Parts: sequence; C-alpha cells; structure tokens
Amino acid sequence: MSKSLLDVNQYEEIDKILKKHDMNKHNLVGILADVQDLSPEHYITKEQAEYISERLGIFLSNVYDTITFYSALSDKPKGKYVIQVCNGPCCKVMKYEKIKDAIEKELKTGIGEITHDGMFSFEYSSCFGACEISPAIRIGEKIYGNLDEKKVVEIIRNYRGGTWENL
Ligand code: FES
Repeated sequence: MSKSLLDVNQYEEIDKILKKHDMNKHNLVGILADVQDLSPEHYITKEQAEYISERLGIFLSNVYDTITFYSALSDKPKGKYVIQVCNGPCCKVMKYEKIKDAIEKELKTGIGEITHDGMFSFEYSSCFGACEISPAIRIGEKIYGNLDEKKVVEIIRNYRGGTWENL
C-alpha cells in the first residue's frame, strides 16, 4: 500500500468512518459513500481504496467492484451533482439528443466533463427504468421525465439556485 500518498489526517478520517461502521465489510457501500464525502471532488482515490481494502481485510477488486456498481460512487472526480442523460432505446425514440444538447448549452460542458464551478458532471446512462416518462435524466438519485429543452434548463437552474428539493 502506498501509505505516503495519504496524509495523516486522511488516515484518521477514514479510521473514524470505519469505526462508525463497526469495521464491518458488509457496510462497504456506506463506508465508501462517507469516504467519498471527504473529497471536494466527490470521488474515492486509489490510495483511499487501498487503505480501506487493507483495513477491512478484503480484496481491492471488491472495493472497485462496489464503486463501479453504485452510480453514486466514483473513482474519478465528479461534480457535486451528476446529471445522467439516458440514451437507452425509449429515450432514443423520444429524441434524447435534444435534451443532451440543451444541457450542454446550459452548462457549457460536454458529456464526460465537469462544470468549471465543480457543481455538475454530465454523462450518459443506460436505461434506468423511466421509459414511460422518456426522455428522462437522473440527477443523483432523482429522476426527471417527459422533458423538453425548456423544462430541463429550468431544472438545472433550480439546482443552481438551490431550490431543487421542491422539484
Ligand atoms: S430508455 Fe431511457 S429510461 Fe429507459
């Protein structure tokens, strides 16, 4: 393990999180979510993943399998809010490209990028089960459907204005 790449505070913070979760490897998702919250860039570094695997006595591949499986977790820097535009079959029929273009224009950010203020990441998603309200996007765990260009811009602006909880 590359211990020198994490500073002492980070070890202490991660140890506190592990303790909070009773050092229980079955709480791995919660542990990873809490560790991710330590990062202003909302991701889990390689060194953090290695330290968690060592402390819990589990394979590093198990840690990465979990990070990959849960869309809320990431091993790469992300914005505060992750906007996922579905490009699955139903959303394709309902012209998801128009929604994607409207988001790109509003954020001045392309797919796979983070806005300059670190507020949003923007990426594609496969179908997340909202086909009956396609075209749809997901922001974090929240799904928005029956979208048009105007509606999606309004949603993003409300996140910026901090009123997204009411949407
Ligand atoms: S195809 Fe887009 S939500 Fe199912």
